[in-house]
Amino acid sequence: MKFEGSICLVLLLVYASITLGTKDPEQGQSPYVFEDKHFITGMQTPHGRIRFLEKFTDRSKLLRGIENYRISTLEADPQTFTVPSHWDSDAVFFVTNGWGTISLIKHGRRESFNLRQGDIVRVEAGTTTYLINRDNKQKFVFAKILRPVNNPGQFEPFYVGGGDNPDSVYSALSNEILEAAFNTRRERLERVFGKQKQGVIIKASEEQIRALAPEEEEEEEEEEEGSREKLINIYKQHPIYSNQYGQLYHVDSSQYKKLQDLDVSVSLANITQGGMTTLYYNSKSTMIAIVVGGEGYFEMARPDLSRSSQELEDRPTGPSYKKVSSRLRRATVIVAPAGYPFILAASRNQNLQVLAFKVNAYKNQRVPLIGRRSVVSHLERQAKELAFGISAREVDEVFGKQQEEFFFKGPQQQHQGFSVE
Ligand SMILES: *[C@@H]1O[C@H](CO)[C@@H](O)[C@H](O)[C@H]1NC(C)=O
Repeated sequence: MKFEGSICLVLLLVYASITLGTKDPEQGQSPYVFEDKHFITGMQTPHGRIRFLEKFTDRSKLLRGIENYRISTLEADPQTFTVPSHWDSDAVFFVTNGWGTISLIKHGRRESFNLRQGDIVRVEAGTTTYLINRDNKQKFVFAKILRPVNNPGQFEPFYVGGGDNPDSVYSALSNEILEAAFNTRRERLERVFGKQKQGVIIKASEEQIRALAPEEEEEEEEEEEGSREKLINIYKQHPIYSNQYGQLYHVDSSQYKKLQDLDVSVSLANITQGGMTTLYYNSKSTMIAIVVGGEGYFEMARPDLSRSSQELEDRPTGPSYKKVSSRLRRATVIVAPAGYPFILAASRNQNLQVLAFKVNAYKNQRVPLIGRRSVVSHLERQAKELAFGISAREVDEVFGKQQEEFFFKGPQQQHQGFSVE
């Protein structure tokens, strides 16, 4: 009896998950949308974690163009130390929350500097890096884009510190070699490389944190003089677009030279509750966007690649498009390939912050399809008439109505298809 009951329950659950799963076929299944569950926890300790988004090509070949890029997040609890490591990937770090210190060892020198929300740091492959969360309340949180240098889409960390957990790179080598290289007996070596068992993000004492502070005086100067070199803060840039519905901040290699070789740019859209962006596309870049705060939604037009050759034969006149849509909440990642028009909108009761890494950033333009400077606004009268098959006046009436350029007032109604409350 009991057994039958549980079979029924299982069947019910299977049925429920099938029906729920088919309710909105585009939600969550689109290769362009990644949710919290698509992050893999790479390393976790009681004091923080490092997560990686699955490879862009795991679910679909459509994103082959960005196969060699990966997204990762790091969250470190208050007053913690992240054990020194180097990675076989180039990276751009963005501080989404909190503040603390980053130390980078390269070219035989150590550079330590304080980071706060909005800072962008280019970390070259192989640079030994460690972090300190100096705050006693807030988490220190990073979003990173990585470009592996050995294997496309695959990367590995190498811990110099550590011993038992994490393993230290030294521990892979034979005792004879280590004894000779360190010129030290094995017992002493075992003491050094066996003690650290607490993982990659560990608690530090107040005194340790204080002692690890970068020199304060230099810091002020760095902000003025050296900041172009070492780091840049996105919120200190003049917003490219700004009105009551939102602001768009942007940093590329013309402000921060170190982004040049990776050909990546970083932007941050802060969309006011009830606001949205224009419908626009990136001319050359693939945009990989991560929600770092608030809630909202996303819609994008994509070519309908599923049409059979029969359908193409029946209607050989041109392509057709399908909608990709998704709710946006913290940690949602969306990918907008070059040329694909999309909008981002905030929910009606929360501002939305979306961080975007763009690959193939050089010479990219944002091309608006609606608003004061839309593509259509540049067409001649006759081109408008021919393109839409109505009078140019009617075209202008519709396209001329929206006076804003980039951020608009969003829909009044509840967005259809899924709840955005
Ligand atoms: C983000 O938008 C909100 C609401 O308009 C505003 O209060 C806040 O100052 C903005 N933040 C930035 C960094 O622009």
